[in-house]
Amino acid sequence: MASNSQIKLTADELDDLSFDAFDEAINPKPDSHDFDAIVEEAISRRGFLGGVISLGGVAALGAASTALTPISAHAAANRFGFEAVAASTKDTIAVPEGYNWHVATRWGDPLFSNVPEFDHATRGTAASQAGAFGDNNDGMAIFTDQDGRQILIANNEYTNRSVMWGNNPDGKFVTDDDINKGKNAHGLTAAELKEIDGTWQIVKDSAYNRRFTPDEPMDITGPARGHAMMKTNVDPDGVTVLGTFNNCGNGRTPWGTYLACEENFNGYFGTADPDSFQQDAANKRYGVSGKDRGYGWWKVDERFDVSKEQNEANRHGYITEVDPYDPTSKPKKRTALGRFKHENAEVVVNADGRIAIYMGDDERGEFLYRYLSDGYYSEGGNTDELMEKGTIYAAKFAADGTGQWLALTPETTGMDQATICIHTRLAASSLGATTMDRPEWVTANPLKAEVYCALTNNKNRGVKTNAGGDETPVGGPNPREANKYGQIVRWWPANADHTADTFTWDLFVMAGNPTVHSDANSGSQNVNEGNMFNSPDGLSFDNKGLLWIQTDGNYSNEKDFANQGNNQMLIGDPATGEIRRFLVGPKQAEITGIAWSADRRTVFVGVQHPGERGDSHWPDGGDKTPRSSIVAVRRDDGAAIG
Ligand code: FEO
Ligand code: CA
Ligand code: CA
Repeated sequence: MASNSQIKLTADELDDLSFDAFDEAINPKPDSHDFDAIVEEAISRRGFLGGVISLGGVAALGAASTALTPISAHAAANRFGFEAVAASTKDTIAVPEGYNWHVATRWGDPLFSNVPEFDHATRGTAASQAGAFGDNNDGMAIFTDQDGRQILIANNEYTNRSVMWGNNPDGKFVTDDDINKGKNAHGLTAAELKEIDGTWQIVKDSAYNRRFTPDEPMDITGPARGHAMMKTNVDPDGVTVLGTFNNCGNGRTPWGTYLACEENFNGYFGTADPDSFQQDAANKRYGVSGKDRGYGWWKVDERFDVSKEQNEANRHGYITEVDPYDPTSKPKKRTALGRFKHENAEVVVNADGRIAIYMGDDERGEFLYRYLSDGYYSEGGNTDELMEKGTIYAAKFAADGTGQWLALTPETTGMDQATICIHTRLAASSLGATTMDRPEWVTANPLKAEVYCALTNNKNRGVKTNAGGDETPVGGPNPREANKYGQIVRWWPANADHTADTFTWDLFVMAGNPTVHSDANSGSQNVNEGNMFNSPDGLSFDNKGLLWIQTDGNYSNEKDFANQGNNQMLIGDPATGEIRRFLVGPKQAEITGIAWSADRRTVFVGVQHPGERGDSHWPDGGDKTPRSSIVAVRRDDGAAIG
């Protein structure tokens, strides 16, 4: 048992921290004790082959591999159809010539005609926020009903306190209504979108419009339903949880449902006397402490007060399934998919009909997972058990370009199935899975059995263990110590079978800055002055098999990040390795979340937390409050995109 008395930072200092920095502050990791065991992979610019990093046996991947030919051979025949956008530090959106953009919806836009328009001076109330588009949109999807109506579902991941409460002194909550406004800005938004007079906008009062706040009742399903660790004072049976929050990336199922993925759920739990909270090993691993990130929920809702409710935190950190077509439906938390800091969920129907779901756990040194259903999917068949009964696996990568999926079962871990689903990180650690450089979005190529995952960065690589004490050696898919720029790993399931226990892998790109560095930090060969970026995060394939890459990185435009500008979106061609910049976001924003209209003529792109450090008035300009938004990008000629 360890208390969190090691917290040394004041509340003000904690307020300024990112989620990762917050976790580090409440839960310091020991320095790695095993430097001698770290295998130093000699990565040099010479080690790259047309965008593929040659690591040991990677060149001998066999038939499953797509060995890349040098980019120059393909340059003339690229599939992009646009000229690259230059890096930018402006407080606006940049798209290629021949494309245009507009804001489709943004934080605070009313979903119903009885909700007031967003008030820049007050930033609304708890009541107005509960009927308006949430804050900090992230993953999203568009669904189309039988009449062709377009239903958007978007995650509203979190709020920036200095923006949400920027009308108050010090940018902090003052009243309970302030706290509840922030709380209601979390969750999900469902809204019908329509092109009206040439621009996409919310159809007010559509029957599809709905907010899912942290107070929305949801069924707990799967192995953890009813387990002792899921029982609380208000839910003694452990079967119904209120709400979902801090959903980052998303997924969608072939049967037409939305998957919201809970990420940094730990930062919402606190108590008046943090030092009184005895943090056990599992809470330590998940970062649940007596100190929240300054949201104050525990002050207005006792289930977030860890001195009054021990188990509420065990009920978050899951994937929630939502039916967009039935606005009265009760969402289902799918505990079978495991509990960790979920990024997104990429659902693949294997050739035999079983469902494979690839999922990243976004924290330094955490794991990459795959879930396999026991049952088989058939169109129109019963799908309810596909995310109820199955097995979670964690990835173990070898330096020679091979890898295997380690099954998390009672036999392999010594844990019962419910505990595996609640303490998934501990189960994967017990099997020696590979500690990764923060696995963000996973996406599968629609044209072949090939899967990509963004490993965004990891300053602790080779420096510190993960939160569970697992070593983080340099090597394999995590080849750079104190990784500043991130990389994208991809793998090919053996025999193109997503249920296979083994795979082969390589790196599609290693981000870097060739204007600053000439070593491995210059990036792989498919990175150059014209397309460089840092911290890949969102990933999504389009229908043509092109890879859309979104960044959530350092936008200082200085030092290691000089000439890289604001966060951006790029498109990569898996066949050639070429990467081209498509869009640049406004100041201090992250680009995250992507979806296409039914006719593919519009690509919707998420712009999250513009002005998170006070230097943006996007999109409304002047002295207006910056607002996270969904932008619609179209071609001037009206042709389809992706
Ligand atoms: Fe919410 Fe992993 O980014
Ligand atoms: Ca993300
Ligand atoms: Ca990120």
